[in-house]
Amino acid sequence: MTSIVRNQWYVAAYGREIGRDVFGRTICGESILFWRREDGTVTAMSDRCVHRRFPLSEKPSHLVGDTVVCGYHGFTYDADGKCVAVPGQTRVPRTARLKSYPVVEQDSFVWVFIGDDDRSDSVTIPRAPWLDAEGYTTVSGMEPLAARASLLVDNLMDLSHETYLHGGYIGTPEVANTPITTEVDEAAQVVYVSRHMDDADCPPFYAKSTGIDGRIVRWQDIEFHPPCLYLLHSRVAPVGVLPDEDGSDPGGFHVEVVYAITPETEHSTHDFWAVARDFALEDEGVSDFLRESNRTVVLQDVVALDALERVLAGEPDGYQELSINIDTGGLAARRIIAAQAAAGAEQVPDSPATLASQ
Ligand code: FES
Ligand SMILES: [Fe+2]
Repeated sequence: MTSIVRNQWYVAAYGREIGRDVFGRTICGESILFWRREDGTVTAMSDRCVHRRFPLSEKPSHLVGDTVVCGYHGFTYDADGKCVAVPGQTRVPRTARLKSYPVVEQDSFVWVFIGDDDRSDSVTIPRAPWLDAEGYTTVSGMEPLAARASLLVDNLMDLSHETYLHGGYIGTPEVANTPITTEVDEAAQVVYVSRHMDDADCPPFYAKSTGIDGRIVRWQDIEFHPPCLYLLHSRVAPVGVLPDEDGSDPGGFHVEVVYAITPETEHSTHDFWAVARDFALEDEGVSDFLRESNRTVVLQDVVALDALERVLAGEPDGYQELSINIDTGGLAARRIIAAQAAAGAEQVPDSPATLASQ
């Protein structure tokens, strides 16, 4: 059975990646073409021409106004995926239509619904408002992962690995040594994992970006919306500096770390990452440093998870893992994702494209 949860919204791209040109990306095993209409809105449809399957994201396929012209023999489709012109005849086969996908652009992401279109309205898209909000500056990127999405979920839900895998960047001994609390909101399907360190080493990621010299209060509050949106609310401040009683926090530095975990295939993943901060907003040097540091950290995870994928792919199913307290959040996430996968699998997937009749 597939491990990919259907009938869900997934991040397909950053809005900046899609413009007045054809753009292809595989999401949950489906090859999808994205482009912007002349009015600026994004449209998504199957990336396989109904004629002979040529990828419409491949040159010389191109846009003409609000249509896309296949680069092989010229089948032309409108923004809804309907074929409006074919070469050598005036009659366009009635069934010549690409599967189209519901799309929403929000919080700097382009979201696409994978599943049965008529269910898209009933599934809420989780928010990451900082990425596109006044008062925050964001750096972001995407790294391809040659590993299944569940390995990235495990990785992000248990940050004790920062101490070992990311030592010298974001890891310090206190992360692995401080116990976590885990809560699951079953109704909302959200997993919360918190680790509050009262007196910790300040790793370079925060020392250089905030300018704090010395030990810190460091809070990590994870909020995971299975199957795909992960938020880490991070607060750092000099030791002893806490939020005011009214909840305001002028002495704290806040970083919102966002990951969108999008399966590309069963065994590969698009690892979207973003770091939004509420300090040094105009400081390009801080932006460059955080972009480079976070990318380095993400690539450390990529190397580790690609290795794990090779291990899992080469071993028979049924290996009994050993889990401990630090895994509580990851196990809760797995349980919710398994339930979502079972619910999503009740529907038979549509074929990615409808073949045209002659
Ligand atoms: S494959 Fe697209 S027009 Fe022939
Ligand atoms: Fe990591």
